[in-house]
Amino acid sequence: MFADLAALPPDALLGLTKLYNDDKRTKKIDLGVGVFRTPDNRTPVLKAVEGAQSRLVERETTKVYLPPEGAPGFGDAIRDLVFGGSIAADRCAVVQTPGGCGALRVGAGLIKRAGAQGVTIGTPTWANHHPLLSAAGLKISMAPYYDAQTGGIDFDAFYESAARLGPGDALLLHGGCHNPTGADLSTDEIDALVDLAVEREFLPFVDCAYHGFAKGLDEDAYVMRRLAERASEFIVSYSCSKNFGLYRERTGALILVGASADRTAAMKSHVLNIARQIYSMPPAHGGIIVAEILTDAALNRAWREELEGMRRAVVANRLLLVKTAAERQLGEKLNYITRQNGMFSLLPVSDAQVLTLREKHGVYLAGGGRANMCGVNDGNVGHLCEALADVLAG
Ligand SMILES: Cc1ncc(COP(=O)(O)O)c(C=O)c1O
Repeated sequence: MFADLAALPPDALLGLTKLYNDDKRTKKIDLGVGVFRTPDNRTPVLKAVEGAQSRLVERETTKVYLPPEGAPGFGDAIRDLVFGGSIAADRCAVVQTPGGCGALRVGAGLIKRAGAQGVTIGTPTWANHHPLLSAAGLKISMAPYYDAQTGGIDFDAFYESAARLGPGDALLLHGGCHNPTGADLSTDEIDALVDLAVEREFLPFVDCAYHGFAKGLDEDAYVMRRLAERASEFIVSYSCSKNFGLYRERTGALILVGASADRTAAMKSHVLNIARQIYSMPPAHGGIIVAEILTDAALNRAWREELEGMRRAVVANRLLLVKTAAERQLGEKLNYITRQNGMFSLLPVSDAQVLTLREKHGVYLAGGGRANMCGVNDGNVGHLCEALADVLAG
């Protein structure tokens, strides 16, 4: 049966990590894979997660299946974290999923079942959006979004594309810390798009994978809270991978908001049915940990502090890079990076320059020049800026 199946090339991003690990040079910098890292290159288990985990180990008496909507308490806790109590509980259903990827895939399945035409996404976007959403049979359309000249958004062009959508279309919005550009919508721009969604009756689909990494948990929830106020229907894919550091536990949620309690219940019934056809129910461990952290005052406080610490560390790395760049022949070329949010920014380099950075200087960037700001630190920023100045000059 499989004799004619040609092998696929390895995943580009995972392949990059292997190249980095195999590189014998001591002066090498990994700005590739999208995880939080400390200056000594670790991605530690959060203290709040350790605390919740040890309680869980003591308490656990069974490994029977979870209910299909996930760990007890998880859904309510995520709803309150995202909406801060600003949504009627019966209009909102939360289904735990295997990571944000699971939520995107199942959410796309829900949109497809509703008979949608397709999903529009701003360009560029996270490399996995296209495969995840099109796997559900949705047609993907790309709209202009990032303006490489300014490091900001070409909002007029994005809005114009959105204004052509109507009932039966969905618009994917990054819920802050845009991947790969770091260029986020302002609150005014969010307001305009939310009003447009209401007027044109297209479905907003928010992908929230970095909640708490841009300005803080409440500020970063703006788009979802604004939608809750104004829009009758929307969905959110939520990832706990970065903000809880639970990457490998595959913990996320699909948040469903319907026009009424009945509509929400119908949406949820389809989501559970789609999940049943793919993986039945989500993994338990991460969901139980998140529920424990969010419902326990001490763990919650500890987690918020750790998340804020991670957020500040990334902001500090951005400032360090821009300051050092100015001192090393790059002038103001990278200044836009301090106006962006989250782990990622695009460096102003071509694909050929990405290759030169890797081969000549041991600087590893993801496709399109995406740099994970977590990989920048006092020890390597000088080498990084010299390498950048070299390729940009040549
Ligand atoms: C924009 C975006 N969406 C969703 C995800 C999914 O995250 P996960 O499936 O690891 O929770 C990621 C992860 O990198 C992401 O960057």
